Amino acid sequence: MEKILKVAIIGCGGIARSHAEAYNNHPNAKLVACCDLLEDKARAFAEKYEIGAYYTDYRELFEKEDLDAVSITTWNSAHKPIAIDALRAGLNVLCEKPMALNTAEALEMERAANETGKLLQIGFVRRFESTSEVIRNFYTGGTLGDVYYAKAQYLRRNGCPGGWFGDKSFSGGGPLIDLGVHVIDLVRYLTGRPMPVSVYGYTFDNLGRNRAKHNIPKGGYKRDYEFAGKFDFRYTVEDFAGADIRFDNGLVLHVEASFNLNLKDNVGKIELFGTKSALQLDDHVELYGVVDDYYMNMTPQGLAKNERVQMFQGEIEHFADCCLNGTPCLAPAEDGVVLMKILDAIYESARTHRSVEIR
Ligand SMILES: NC(=O)c1ccc[n+]([C@@H]2O[C@H](COP(=O)([O-])OP(=O)(O)OC[C@H]3O[C@@H](n4cnc5c(N)ncnc54)[C@H](O)[C@@H]3O)[C@@H](O)[C@H]2O)c1
Repeated sequence: MEKILKVAIIGCGGIARSHAEAYNNHPNAKLVACCDLLEDKARAFAEKYEIGAYYTDYRELFEKEDLDAVSITTWNSAHKPIAIDALRAGLNVLCEKPMALNTAEALEMERAANETGKLLQIGFVRRFESTSEVIRNFYTGGTLGDVYYAKAQYLRRNGCPGGWFGDKSFSGGGPLIDLGVHVIDLVRYLTGRPMPVSVYGYTFDNLGRNRAKHNIPKGGYKRDYEFAGKFDFRYTVEDFAGADIRFDNGLVLHVEASFNLNLKDNVGKIELFGTKSALQLDDHVELYGVVDDYYMNMTPQGLAKNERVQMFQGEIEHFADCCLNGTPCLAPAEDGVVLMKILDAIYESARTHRSVEIR
């Protein structure tokens, strides 16, 4: 008989939709239940995605439903408690990025996964871009040569999502932990997962406090309205972060992430610089090499552009494959822990104005 993965989604906000669509498109996954602190939101989500049951308390959900796995798509401060309870309830977990608020929490989650033997996959969705495999092949096959420098930018001119994203106690930080996490992880993934050894980082909060209020013309964020009287989100995060991260294979990554920065346009790109060639990645990849003494700019033909729907479908298909068939996970908890160590070190460096070693 065909195996079916019975799944619940916890946290019925923006990104939960991408998870729900991908599960509903998967022939061997079944969305059994969903859960949100806000009952109306959970009910509407259940109706939209034709989910049989909805809850406002995930513990009740674990007790009442017959599940194999959960997607955790709540705000960041809820990742750790829900992931640990889910693992201890015998469930496989796909937890959105960032893994947790900090390294200490991430280590607790990793320990729970190891102790229970259940899967804890981290939502490093960009690993599932259509360009990832070809770039990893460029790297391992030697096309790039020795990659010694990389640049990663995820810059928004005026793009704080508002609500809990701006409140450190719910998010753990600003654009660094929200956006920077994606591109730092992707550089690591594409370059053979080197281990970080030290960082020098800096953060600023010159624009966000004021801009956050004016970001949405009607004078507030949807998330603020939704939680009025329940949670009072306070803007307490950086609006720009930058860092230089040194890895154990000699690679140095320069990263920049912003919610607010006075620049011409939003920027989202990664560049890898090697001794033989370089590449730039945004929604497609371009390789800058030398052929017969000519500098050449080359684009792989026949590769789909990187798009959100395809990335999430790839991520959920992989999660289901790991749960159903025991396939080794491409985005395991240990990589989430490494990322949290880098992020913690950048915030510590920004606070102390010194470089910070990572062990
Ligand atoms: N992979 C990506 O590209 C990507 C993009 C956006 C967000 N995210 C991540 O997804 C997560 C959610 O982000 P979002 O934009 O969907 O936020 P959101 O505010 O739209 O939704 C979060 C929901 O979680 C619910 N929630 C919080 N605590 C809960 C709990 N204990 N039990 C049940 N529900 C709870 C809230 O009520 C809210 O409805 C965050 O960790 C964020 O970093 C990832």
